[in-house]
Order: sequence, then structure tokens, then C-alpha cells
Amino acid sequence: MSIAERGTEALREHVATQLRRARERSVVLTDAVDDDDLVRQHSKLMSPLVWDLAHIGNQEELWLVRDVGGREPVREDIDNLYDAFQHPRADRPALPLLDPAQARGYVREVRDKVFDVLEGSRLEGRRLETDGFAFGMIVQHEQQHDETMLATHQLRRGAPVLHAPAPPAGRPLPVAEVLVPEGPFAMGTSIEAWALDNERPAHDVHVDAFFIDTAPVTNAAYEAFIAAGGYDDPRWWSEVGWAYRVKADLTAPRFWVRDGAGWLRDRFGHVEPIPPDEPVVHVCFHEALAYATWAGRRLPTEAEWEKAARFDPATGRSRRFPWGDEDPGPEHANLGQRHLSPAPVGAYPAGASPLGVHQLVGDVWEWLDSDFHGYPGFEAFPYREYSEVFFGGDYKMLRGGSFGTDPAAVRATFRNWDHPIRRQIFAGFRCARDARAEELA
Ligand SMILES: [Fe+2]
Repeated sequence: MSIAERGTEALREHVATQLRRARERSVVLTDAVDDDDLVRQHSKLMSPLVWDLAHIGNQEELWLVRDVGGREPVREDIDNLYDAFQHPRADRPALPLLDPAQARGYVREVRDKVFDVLEGSRLEGRRLETDGFAFGMIVQHEQQHDETMLATHQLRRGAPVLHAPAPPAGRPLPVAEVLVPEGPFAMGTSIEAWALDNERPAHDVHVDAFFIDTAPVTNAAYEAFIAAGGYDDPRWWSEVGWAYRVKADLTAPRFWVRDGAGWLRDRFGHVEPIPPDEPVVHVCFHEALAYATWAGRRLPTEAEWEKAARFDPATGRSRRFPWGDEDPGPEHANLGQRHLSPAPVGAYPAGASPLGVHQLVGDVWEWLDSDFHGYPGFEAFPYREYSEVFFGGDYKMLRGGSFGTDPAAVRATFRNWDHPIRRQIFAGFRCARDARAEELA
């Protein structure tokens, strides 16, 4: 059910449930390690976990306690410390941050006030409060930081501290690629209540006919690229990609470790054989593009990905998710840190799109050959720093969410972006190709 279709009391309950779920996850991620580990910087790319925790509370205080609630500040004195624009991640450990006990007390105090604010909010009127938007934004913000904290856990050295059951088994897919027909489709949304500014508004986009893979590229396929000397041949790489390949001495996905003639991987502290039929993860955009070029294919554009994920040829309309309009369930997609790895190809037949494309949502974020820009009619909301300041920067788009993305923080319209060299995120890719004239006859 979409948020706008709920009654006010049902919406209030939904908001409360989503806030609780996000907090339970933050607690799992921060209680899993000791105080030493919480304040340590596990990688220059990441904040100490204790920064993420207090930052989650600070954003919640700014938007829900002060703005929506109109209440007195809880800790105005720490706003600057937890402003992501003021302090790059590498500098954060040197700041006079709240210690773990203070951070836990702070987020608890803020949350108590927020439940009080939620009781009193009409969840309509001001745009910020309509359909609980500000609450939804804060839920998504916490879940996004939880995924970031999960990536910090992957970078952390030491014995495993996170545990989850293995994902469901895979099964072979009937075809390797499908044709997405030529024509317009509705991209983005104007009706999804908690969609962020960069997903809006809905607008028609024409897409030429193209073929897209029914599954993300697997570890086995990627290993064949490595074995064929893909990392040693500049022909497959863009100029900037090759320069980075050389400078960073890339030889395999991040967290792969040589084991004689083969490879193992380090996954949250477990060193294990690489499952051949699982989507490859921890590759940067440049690696994804090099693989696609080597394979005689290309990466999809953002519009192509979204059309493959949402377009229903039977009705001509765009769905909320590949499987339909229902919120993601465990049968649809590998989301929400239920498992600590991508699932093998074919593990979610109930999550396929009408055109038969699998695992578009969940498992791995998918790198796309598109830059970040606003849609026609874009309007910054509720603040320019959410999206607009990143338009036109050195970013490539990512879609679909990963096993570490919560269902509350992803939709088929949801847009993510990152630098094309990033490998610590849970990103993989799938390939596409142009349709040839004889294939359309
Ligand atoms: Fe943030």
C-alpha cells in the first residue's frame, strides 16, 4: 500500500514502526563491537561508527525535534561536529566527538522527543509534514547510514561480529538477456510520498530498443575477465579508468585475496571460497565498464535500467517495483541486511520484472553509465544540499539497492550516486547492448 493511501492513524503507526526498525538496526551495528572499535577509523573512506550514530541523532533532532516539532534544541552545540559538509570523513576522528555512552544517550533522548512530536503531528498541512515526509526522510537517512556502517564493518579487520543466515539458493534463468521494446515510459515519480527530490517529477522518457541481462554479472563471469588478462589490457578500459587501474594497482574486486591459482574473498571477517553464481560486488564503475567492453557489451543507462525495472508492456504503466506495487517482502528481493551477501542468480523469481529481468532490486547496487542530474522540472526539497549540489559532479549513478539496503530506503525510482572509483560500497553491475535492426524485424 502506498503511504498516501493509509489513514492518518495507520500512517502514524507506520512511521513509528519504520523508526523503530531503523533504530534496531543501528543498535545491532554499533553494539556488535566494543567502544574501542566504535571510535576507531577503520578506513579513511569512512567515519568512526560513533560519528555515524550521533550524526543520525543530530539530523533527527534538526528535522523532527526542531523543525517539525518546533521544540527547543537538545544539543545545538554539537551541530557543527555532525554536519557532513563541514568535516570530510578522514577528519572526523580528530573532532571532539561524543563518546559511545554519550552518543547512545543522545540518540535515545532525541528519539523520545520524536515519538512525542509524532503523536502531535497532523501529518498534513506543511509540505514537510504531509504524508509524514520528514519522518520518512529521517527513516531513510538512518537506514542509509546503517548501510554505510555495514560497509565500515566490511572494512574492519578482526574476527566476525555480524551473523545472518545464508541467502536462498539460486536457479538457472531461462534466458540470459531480454529485449526491452522501443518507446516512451514514465521515469521518476510524482506520487510516491517518501520519494526524495531527485526522484521527482514523473516524466516521459523515450528509450530505444535494447537488450539487458536478466541477472547481474556473476563472480564466475568476472573471474573469466580476470583470467583473460582483463586487468592488463588498456583496450578494455576508458582512459580515466585505465589511469586509475594503474595508480591504484587494481587486480581484482576489493576484498578478493589470491589463493594459489584462484581466489578467496574476505566477507565481514570470513575468508571463504567465492560463490561462482553470486553477483560480483565491490567493483568500481571503471571495472564494471572494462568488463562490459571486454564482453562486447556496455553498461545500461539510468533510463534503460529504470525502464527494465518498472515498465509493464501489458498496461504501459510504470510500477513502483519490478514485481508490482507492493512493498518489498522477503520473497521479492535480498534487502535489509537479512543476509550478509548477495544471493545467487535466480534466487528471487517472485521479484522479476514483467519483462523477466531478475534481481534488479536488492543484492548489489548496479553501476550505470549515466551522470547525476536533475529531472526536467526538478525542485530542491527540503534543502539544496540533499541532491542539487551534487548535480554535474564526478559521480556515476547506482540503482536498485544491495543486500545492505533497507526496503524503506529503496524503490525502483530511488537514485544513488557515487564517485566512479568507489569500491567499498556494495556495488556490482549488469550488462546491456543495443538491439540490431534484424532482431527487431
Ligand atoms: Fe547523513
